[in-house]
Order: sequence, then C-alpha cells, then structure tokens
Amino acid sequence: MRALVTGGAGFIGSNLALELQKRYKNAEIFVLDDFSSGHFKNLIGFEGEIITGSIAEPETVEKLRKYNFDVIFHQAANVDTTDMNQRKMMEVNCEAFKDILNVARESKAKVVYASSAAVYGNGSAPMRVNQELLPENIYGFSKYAMDMVAYRFMRENPSIGVVGLRYFNVYGPRETYKGKMASMVLQLTVQILKGKKPRLFKWGEQKRDFVYVMDCVEANIKGFETDKSGIVNVGTGRARSFNEVVDIIRKTLGVDVEVEYFDNPYEFYQNYTEADLTETKEVLNWYPKTQIEEGIPAYIEWIKENVNVNTLPY
Ligand SMILES: NC(=O)c1ccc[n+]([C@@H]2O[C@H](COP(=O)([O-])OP(=O)(O)OC[C@H]3O[C@@H](n4cnc5c(N)ncnc54)[C@H](O)[C@@H]3O)[C@@H](O)[C@H]2O)c1
Repeated sequence: MRALVTGGAGFIGSNLALELQKRYKNAEIFVLDDFSSGHFKNLIGFEGEIITGSIAEPETVEKLRKYNFDVIFHQAANVDTTDMNQRKMMEVNCEAFKDILNVARESKAKVVYASSAAVYGNGSAPMRVNQELLPENIYGFSKYAMDMVAYRFMRENPSIGVVGLRYFNVYGPRETYKGKMASMVLQLTVQILKGKKPRLFKWGEQKRDFVYVMDCVEANIKGFETDKSGIVNVGTGRARSFNEVVDIIRKTLGVDVEVEYFDNPYEFYQNYTEADLTETKEVLNWYPKTQIEEGIPAYIEWIKENVNVNTLPY
C-alpha cells in the first residue's frame, strides 16, 4: 500500500502518519507539507519520504501524479479560522482539493479528507450531516465548498472511494505548534501550569464537542478501510462546556485556581457544537472511544513529558 498524508507535519496529520507507519508494516507512507503551520518535530520517528511543497502550487501537484498512491489522507489546509483573506483561503483549501481529487482519480486512489464542524456555524445541534450548512467565516465556507466538490466527485466517480470527516474540536499530542489555533484544552492547561488563571469568555458555559486526536486518526483509518463513500461527523456526540474542561484540568493537576472570565471579542462564534453520529456509524463503523474525562488526563501526561510550557504563548 502507498499512502500519502498531506499536512503530515501538522497536528492531526503527524499523528496519522506515525500510526499508519506503526499499523501497516509493509506500506510506503509519504508526507506532503509546506511547513506553514506544521513542524518538523512532529515528524521525529517518521521513516517514510517527505515531499516538501504547497498543495496550492501546480508543480507540487504535478509531482504527486507520479507516485500512484493507493490512498490520500488529505489534511493540509489553511487552518486559521480568523484569516479573512477569502481568495487565499479558497485557493489553499478548495482549489487545491480539486487537484488532489484529480490526482486520486488518475491513480484510482481512495481519498479521506478533513472537513470541519465549522460548516455548521451556529446551526441547530446536535449537528446532522444533512442539515442546513451555515458557515460563519471563510474558513468554514472553504470546508463547505470542499464538501460540495466532494459530493459532485462522488456522483461522477462512483468507483473512487471518498470519505469526508467533519472534525469537531480536536485536542491531543502534537498540537503544540498551532499557536493561537491550538485547542482550548492545551491553552488552558498551559495557563494553569504557568501559574496563571485560566481565561475563558464569559461565562464559560459555551459548549463544544471535544474529540481526542487518536479517535480522529482511527476515523481516518476506518475511512480508508470502508467500501462506502460519504461525509460524516467526527466528534464524541456530547457537548461539554469550557467550565467542565477547566474542572477536569484542575482535578488532573491537583490545583484549585479561579477562572478569569472576559468578554468575547468575536462577532461570530460557535456557542454550541455537538456531533450527531448516525452517518459516522453507517459509513465508517466508528465510534469515539475517548471522552474528556480520559482524554484530558492522557494529554496532560504527554504535555508534562514533552513540552516546555514556557515556550508557548498562552
Ligand atoms: N484541529 C481541529 O480541531 C480541526 C477541526 C476541524 C477541522 N480540522 C482540519 O483538520 C486538518 C488538519 O488540521 P490540524 O489541526 O492538524 O492543523 P495543522 O495546522 O497542525 O495542520 C495543517 C498542516 O497542513 C500544512 N499546510 C498548510 N497549508 C499547506 C499547503 N498549502 N501545502 C501543503 N501543506 C500545507 C501545515 O504546514 C500543517 O502541517 C485541516 O484540514 C483542518 O482544517 C481540524
């Protein structure tokens, strides 16, 4: 098996590349990245070939054509949800995705790609795959546009498997290079470890569906293994408040620190996200294993062993 992980130096991509290497001993695993938000340290231990380049550049796409991949796990994206440059966002996320699909069609490769719960905006929850999509920012819109391209591709190319994964709020090891885009689990843990008060938007009762990165990796692998195509949610199916997250971090670290609440400066903000997992079970036969009660302590152990929190900006 020849597999490509785009965005493989990033948070989810590096966990996936390393797990594929562990699980498929005879496979050739490739990573493609432009190292814009990923980091080489995420790939220490990776033994496959690294292709350096941007998915938005024609010469990189040309290079990919020669490899004849069996599967492409497409994780690369502009992940900055606060970036308002609409053209740039659409070029990196949606235009490049069309090229990736064309490469896959030529070599009959399966495609598993990263979509996002940002496509739902403040739509009703639990979020169902087929409900009205109301992205609030250009990042969410770019993922929505990718999903529309994918549906059309699936109709026109029924012999090529395509699975879109709408990740909810992912947290876990190897997200330390994401800066302000890192999960609140990391940001709040680092604040507390630095002896600061954890900072939340007033009054911490906004709820998100927090999903552990290794569950997302498993969803990608199930997406490769299934013979079905479709777009599915990847979350835990349970919305949890930021106050609950702080409580679990405090309990894990054995500290009793107060929360500092401040006004939310964002005009658009997802106040409540929760994944409906109906299609996820049907298409992937996948179910999340990790709730935040287990995921956060496991992540904190990793942070303590691997991260110098003083180098992080939170
Ligand atoms: N982390 C989350 O909570 C979350 C939620 C929803 C969706 N997603 C999606 O999951 C995917 C992975 O996100 P992540 O959290 O691992 O972020 P990340 O920033 O760690 O990973 C993205 C990777 O893509 C690379 N990249 C960016 N632009 C590129 C380009 N033009 N060419 C080649 N490589 C490029 C970056 O260098 C980085 O290594 C993204 O598609 C993102 O939109 C993530």
